[in-house]
Amino acid sequence: MLVLGIETSCDETATALYDSERGLLAHEVYSQLELHAEYGGVVPELASRDHIRKISPLIRQVIEKTKLALTDVDGIAYTAGPGLLGALLVGTTVGRSMAFALEKPAIAVHHMEGHLLAPMLDPNPPEFPFVALLVSGGHTQLIRVQGIGQYELLGESVDDAAGEAFDKTAKMLGLPYPGGPALAELAKQGNPQRFTFPRPMTDRPGLDFSFSGLKTFALYTLRDHGDDAQTKADIAYAFEHAVVETMFIKCRRAMEQTGLTTLIMAGGVSANQRLRARLDEFAKQKGYQVHYPQNEFCTDNAAMIAYAGCQRLMAGQHEGLEFASRARWPLEELPAI
Ligand code: KG4
Ligand code: ZN
Repeated sequence: MLVLGIETSCDETATALYDSERGLLAHEVYSQLELHAEYGGVVPELASRDHIRKISPLIRQVIEKTKLALTDVDGIAYTAGPGLLGALLVGTTVGRSMAFALEKPAIAVHHMEGHLLAPMLDPNPPEFPFVALLVSGGHTQLIRVQGIGQYELLGESVDDAAGEAFDKTAKMLGLPYPGGPALAELAKQGNPQRFTFPRPMTDRPGLDFSFSGLKTFALYTLRDHGDDAQTKADIAYAFEHAVVETMFIKCRRAMEQTGLTTLIMAGGVSANQRLRARLDEFAKQKGYQVHYPQNEFCTDNAAMIAYAGCQRLMAGQHEGLEFASRARWPLEELPAI
């Protein structure tokens, strides 16, 4: 089955062609980074308008790259939520309308299910069941995954998402948006001995996270120790280290609690090298399997959407003629396949 995937939930416009037999055939991502950079964050209305400009050319590009025709497509998968409503509506409307015109089935994909299944695009994919740590700009969740659509939320952030905390702290340090990768780069110059940041919510039971306190801690440290270049690098190091240690402690707890032996991490923050290194070390020590998406599939892309949609379409699921986008959408509401 050949599936066209469409992703427009935030500030990346992306398309992909995934085939159930041949795997990923092509994918394109256009990042709106420059458009939003001067505002220090995503401006929803600008994002929606830019998706409208880019979506058709990007669909044409994946079709041309593979030398296939639109009529070869067996189904269309579009991100229907969660995300920015106006941005989601672009992909939803285009995807649903194209499916109608081509007389093919359409499937609404949950963006976080896309992230969660991104490691499946790997030549050596993880096997169910596993624990998933989803860490993106909008979500931080630990999930027990029995199979596709069989998700049990074990814990989540009670305030800022991990990526959001990275971005806000980076902004404070004068780094450009999105700050996560820039902060990680600056942290390499940091002195590990200078500051110790707290590990939020690790001193009590449970698998929830809280990152907004770390951001405030960074602000006070900056205020009290001056804002020279070395101090900023030292704060970046201490912040990243605290996030990494907190995630590691919660992952260890989730593995112990579930008794599972496979851990996957996905979402934009899963590109973080220090976090990967820490989880690799932990997995090696315990004899666990740990999987991450390939780098290009950590941040937003349509390959993961086409993959997730393909699994659901193959299981016979599809949408009716009506369509909707959802800014909020609990992952646990998804049907199993
Ligand atoms: O999954 P994603 O592309 O978009 C959402 O669905 O939110 O995640 C984007 C987030 C941003 O907050 C970005 O700063 C963060 O992922 N990010 C990183 C790194 N690369 C991206 N955070 C820390 N270290 C990185 N290397
Ligand atoms: Zn995402």
